[in-house]
Amino acid sequence: MVLRLIFALVNEILSHYPSNYKQSGIIPMLDLAQQQHGGWVPVAAMDAIAKIVGVAPIRVYEVATFYSMFNRTKVGKYHLLVCGTTPCMIRGSRDIEDALLKHLGVKRNEVTSDGLFSVGEMECMGCCVNAPMIAVADYTKGSDGYTYNYYEDLTPKRVVELVEMLRRGETPPRGTQNPERKNCGPAGGMTTLLGEPKPPPCRDLDAC
Ligand code: FES
Repeated sequence: MVLRLIFALVNEILSHYPSNYKQSGIIPMLDLAQQQHGGWVPVAAMDAIAKIVGVAPIRVYEVATFYSMFNRTKVGKYHLLVCGTTPCMIRGSRDIEDALLKHLGVKRNEVTSDGLFSVGEMECMGCCVNAPMIAVADYTKGSDGYTYNYYEDLTPKRVVELVEMLRRGETPPRGTQNPERKNCGPAGGMTTLLGEPKPPPCRDLDAC
């Protein structure tokens, strides 16, 4: 039953590409394998993918080792990825990472002894306007319940609170953690563009 389901998913992935470009399915298949394998991709999975798409295993290894979203060693059920790029860094991402590592008692890329958490680093995740931020890859519910959520406008205190909510099995609210902001709008509400804009001035051609 499980194998049938996996083949159905693989066929669904392959159906998106021309039959002579099956290798285009390598990335989505690595992603699927990672979700099904608790957050990391073993060599056996890469070999199986190579067989499915009909390429030498090295072709899959080189993809899996190039993209930092693919983990090649065990991670926690909740893999916490701290953004380390400049906007997040100048907004305190190092303090966020330090708070996480200290609270969980691990080094970067280590897994906590209960297997629940690990802390990694990612480059810019496109959320600089709400820096500093982390992404949480949640592997607790297999590939069906897999989520990858952003938590933004973090402080060292708030990130520890988020970890404890996850530990209790709660689902913390995604997005900005600053109660004064809505999505990526300004704290305290809009200050400009508050009313209907005036139409642009038009030249009265009849008056010419
Ligand atoms: S620098 Fe962190 S999201 Fe862009």
